[in-house]
Amino acid sequence: MARTKRVSEMSHEEIKSEVKKTYASVAKRTSAQPAKSGCCEPSGATTPIEGESCGCGGSGTQIRLILGAMGYPVRGLPDSVIESFAGCGNPVAIADLKDGETVLDLGSGAGLDVFMAAKKVGETGRVIGVDMTPEMLEKARANAKKMGASNVEFRQGDIERLPIQDDSVDAIISNCVINLAPDKSKVFRESYRVLRPGGRMMISDIVLEKPLTEEAREEVANYTGCLGGAILEADYLALMREVGFEDVKVVSKWSDGQSASAKIRAVKPKSAKD
Ligand SMILES: C[S@@+](CC[C@H](N)C(=O)[O-])C[C@H]1O[C@@H](n2cnc3c(N)ncnc32)[C@H](O)[C@@H]1O
Repeated sequence: MARTKRVSEMSHEEIKSEVKKTYASVAKRTSAQPAKSGCCEPSGATTPIEGESCGCGGSGTQIRLILGAMGYPVRGLPDSVIESFAGCGNPVAIADLKDGETVLDLGSGAGLDVFMAAKKVGETGRVIGVDMTPEMLEKARANAKKMGASNVEFRQGDIERLPIQDDSVDAIISNCVINLAPDKSKVFRESYRVLRPGGRMMISDIVLEKPLTEEAREEVANYTGCLGGAILEADYLALMREVGFEDVKVVSKWSDGQSASAKIRAVKPKSAKD
């Protein structure tokens, strides 16, 4: 039998293909057939279970409880909006979104954060979700219909090459996605390009508190499970500053000593020129 490749032997495209495969199956998850619990603040576990994705897993009731503890107003939300949630925090909670704003969600999955943001920006605002996995986009679009959300749009694309115009977005949110990108610098450069001067970025993501063992980093299931592709917090913040972001800070984090689910905020300077 062919040996499974180590992450360092894979091209960026091969890594993304593994990520897509994992999240295609997360998109098919239902409350009746849940996954086991994974890396989901504040459930108590950051270590992904082999072969599993990032996210809460658990029964519909367990996911609702976890999301409620994270500050999501889950009452009344259809199961299909929450059962494929694979985030590790609540970036909308720190986004201070206002009526009329345009928001972009990087790696929007089944759409929960897009719908939360859409309520905050109202009818005059809009929220665009970008994701590369067709099954997630299909679920998110069906969810938009169920929610009657007319101010949202889901676009297929790679967050390392955003299908979004320069300087066109007021705020970017992202929930447990950038750790999965093989080239994080490209993601931050693209985010900076599409934000208007003065625009802001609010991220929930997994960062490392100390380096992983080589063995852990080379395991594909760890990568797709939101741990293997994570980098040290200081390196993460440095990459954001390198592309021009200002006021880059960790707003809060929840750590198990090895890795942490962090909320990170940054601003594109008002004076920024292309
Ligand atoms: C861990 S899930 C999080 C989904 C969603 N943010 C949530 O909180 O439920 C990661 C999502 O990001 C998407 N993704 C990962 N890498 C991506 C990339 N390079 N470009 C676009 N989407 C990506 C996956 O398809 C998946 O839907």
